[in-house]
Amino acid sequence: MRAFDVVIIGAGAAGLMCAITAAERGRKVLLLDSSNKPGKKILMSGGGRCNFTNMYAEPANFAATNPHFCKSALARYTPWDFIGLVAKHEVPYHEKKLGQLFCDNRSKDILNLLLTECEEAGVEWHVNTSVHAIEKADAGGYALRTDLGDVAAQSLVIATGGLSIPTLGATGFGYEVARQFGHNILPTRAGLVPFTASGPLKELCTELSGTSVDCVAGCNGESFRENLLFTHRGLSGPAILQISSFWHPGDIVEINLLPDRDALEWLQSQQATRPNSELKTLLGEVFTKKMAALLAEHWFTSKPMKQYTPAQLREIADRLAAWRFMPAGTEGYRTAEVTLGGVDTREVSSKTMESLKSPGLYFVGEVLDVSGHLGGFNFQWAWASGHAAAQVV
Ligand code: FDA
Repeated sequence: MRAFDVVIIGAGAAGLMCAITAAERGRKVLLLDSSNKPGKKILMSGGGRCNFTNMYAEPANFAATNPHFCKSALARYTPWDFIGLVAKHEVPYHEKKLGQLFCDNRSKDILNLLLTECEEAGVEWHVNTSVHAIEKADAGGYALRTDLGDVAAQSLVIATGGLSIPTLGATGFGYEVARQFGHNILPTRAGLVPFTASGPLKELCTELSGTSVDCVAGCNGESFRENLLFTHRGLSGPAILQISSFWHPGDIVEINLLPDRDALEWLQSQQATRPNSELKTLLGEVFTKKMAALLAEHWFTSKPMKQYTPAQLREIADRLAAWRFMPAGTEGYRTAEVTLGGVDTREVSSKTMESLKSPGLYFVGEVLDVSGHLGGFNFQWAWASGHAAAQVV
């Protein structure tokens, strides 16, 4: 049986960072992945340019049942630490907006830098390698039955991510291991995911498919100012992806389509100054002509402004500033960027990521119940949690 100080299951963002940092500390590290390539989500991320961190990452950018859990790791490995690594490898990058850092060229630059670091630190890594069984070893640590044969690990790190995008290698393996060693798994669901629509909402979305509009999207006390995108099946775009993480089936989503103005004041002033202009024409000055025409058709009866009563103007303003609808559902794990829920962080050390139920077992990255907002926060969590565990494994 081959023996290692550390065996890490899952060669995604968190597993790679943990492997590099532990090996740099002189630990003998084995990194295993059942997929045919390491870091598949890194390659797909950020539309092919990997939004690898966010300069303004802080605990408030993460959703978790225990909001304090992420604080320690995030404070000890900051966006600037990862930016330092990116600079060391001379990977060109830029800030797109709101502190979101993207590669100038391609996501592969980030994966290549991580694999180079693995090589230099002496990490042994294998893909197409499954772990069939894990047991606690009598002499301490863990014994694993793998495609490589039996392996002994003093420390075992679970970095297998969440359930989103099974075609990129996602499995529920991390949750199974957690359960095996007595952990509670908080209910999982798709996050950062488009909404699907049915009925008249679906009709509107289909007709407006491809149209993007600045808005504030709100649900359950959270709100995000970003773009909304109408699609053939429903609603997407950053505003919708962000708010989807706070939505539960049956909840109403509220959209302000006029985030820069008071809708009623604007309509009243237009009525006073342009009484003969049609509502559709005025909307066409704020939205695209197509969107204005469709809103006028689906939501309002367009007529000259002077013909609206004060009550009707209020109704129109309400619809534009507080459009409320109930999504039919989400696109689910097939397209979700993250999995909400997961290994209950109340049973894991926030300092070391070590299980409080089974010494020597660690959980890092998305398998834990920590999910970032859209914008580079999820990778920052993967780097920070992988780094935290690597200090002690
Ligand atoms: P990750 O999922 O990256 O890695 C898990 C690894 O475990 C995989 O390599 C998988 O093959 C392996 N594995 C699974 N089961 C196994 C088993 N049984 N045995 C062995 N190995 C197993 N975030 C962000 O900050 N910026 C961005 O731009 C994007 N963009 C983005 C785009 C898309 C399309 C998606 C789906 C997601 C994003 N994200 C993102 C989210 C981000 O990719 C995600 O949060 C991190 O990759 C999570 O890192 P982990 O290492 O925890 O899991």
